[in-house]
Amino acid sequence: MNQDCGIEPDGDRWHVGGPLSFAGSFTPPGDKSIAHRAFLLAALSRGRCVLGAVPEADDVQRTRAALEGLGVRMHKSGEIYEVHGVGLHGLTPAGGAIDCGNSGTTMRLLAGVLAGQSFASELCGDASLSRRPMRRIAEPLRAMGARIACAGDDERPPLRIEPPVLGVLHGREHEIAVDSAQVRSAILFAGLVAEGWTSIRPAGHARDHSQRMLRALGVDLQVSGELHLQPPQAAWQGFEFRVPGDVSALAFFAAVAASSPNELCARNVGLNPGRRRFAEILQAAGMQVRVDVESDQLDEPMGTLRIAGRASRPIHLSGVDTVQCIDEVPALLVAAAVAGVEARIEDAAELHVKESDRIAAMAEVLRAFGAIVHEERGRIHLETATTLRPAVVDSRGDHRIAMAAATLAAATPGASVIENVACVHTSYPEFELDFARLLQPGR
Ligand code: S3P
Repeated sequence: MNQDCGIEPDGDRWHVGGPLSFAGSFTPPGDKSIAHRAFLLAALSRGRCVLGAVPEADDVQRTRAALEGLGVRMHKSGEIYEVHGVGLHGLTPAGGAIDCGNSGTTMRLLAGVLAGQSFASELCGDASLSRRPMRRIAEPLRAMGARIACAGDDERPPLRIEPPVLGVLHGREHEIAVDSAQVRSAILFAGLVAEGWTSIRPAGHARDHSQRMLRALGVDLQVSGELHLQPPQAAWQGFEFRVPGDVSALAFFAAVAASSPNELCARNVGLNPGRRRFAEILQAAGMQVRVDVESDQLDEPMGTLRIAGRASRPIHLSGVDTVQCIDEVPALLVAAAVAGVEARIEDAAELHVKESDRIAAMAEVLRAFGAIVHEERGRIHLETATTLRPAVVDSRGDHRIAMAAATLAAATPGASVIENVACVHTSYPEFELDFARLLQPGR
């Protein structure tokens, strides 16, 4: 084995030596989107909940810590958390600003939970989160009677949430312009304690974990062209739940597998239909994909995902595909670059307002590695790559850019450097370990 192949941490940077690929079997970390919701739903339950395979990701731990600050008792043993739910009206004031760190999901979903409470709350975040738009949740929540002030320019964080105008939120019909899971979830969480039903049009195609889990817990939530939520009389009972593994995390290793014939096998992965879309896109690009659903908890299917073979056809994403793979776009661009196929991503304006401007960030990374890339608002086009060359790149403090750059470097012959990588802890603290575990010298 070539000693220079692999990943070497050095302070806040990685030295990555290629060429190498990834193969073998592993269990990716728990899905962070599902884990946020599992904590929130456990906290609002009326009993003792047991949550397994909870990821150590900083984003998820922000939601957990926030709920503890709001009076929810929890106990951890290994990867298992016991959560003592306080019911829909049992949270207590946090006694200071709740720091959501880098986590947009924590801030937006908690805003929905806190909008209908009888006490005031403040939500703040790091520099990246402080630049992210909050009008998308503030406006619909205000329309339900919530009092939310966004202290940053143009409705950006920090947020101050006062008890609702009439002491209680009122359900209503919402028409939402952006196909966002966080926006729908914030409205649904607020709707749980509102007077009267809440509807959201359209039902959309973004992550539907909140809808699935709420329904599975017995909440009257109808899902057709729109979402229609009847607030429950009382919260659900305590429950047990194992967080399925995260497709968005395994996507980086799968991307590099696109340039090698070997098989990558991910076990205990979340396989709800929207989350499978990533693998289907790789399949359309010529890879062999096998999905085996083995269990189902709270309507979140889990099982084994096997990806093998080389990508040989262009990767084109637009419309619903872009919405469903929005977090996997950096990995899909890496897959195309390493396999030497074209990638065209459209309808992706949301990528400009993630933890970084991911269109600009990925264009910069890909160009540094020698690819020819065209970007415009909401679109990025990678020309069929010629030979990749090693590079020194910066993640812009965005975990997905750091991992995309590291895996692109892995597939590239020579020594590359990825700067500013501590951010990987927000979603995948074990990334370096799994990288080292799965790597195969050569391509
Ligand atoms: C998430 C929703 C997505 C996604 C994010 C996690 C969630 O954003 O990008 O990483 O857990 O609800 P949208 O709100 O734009 O769908």
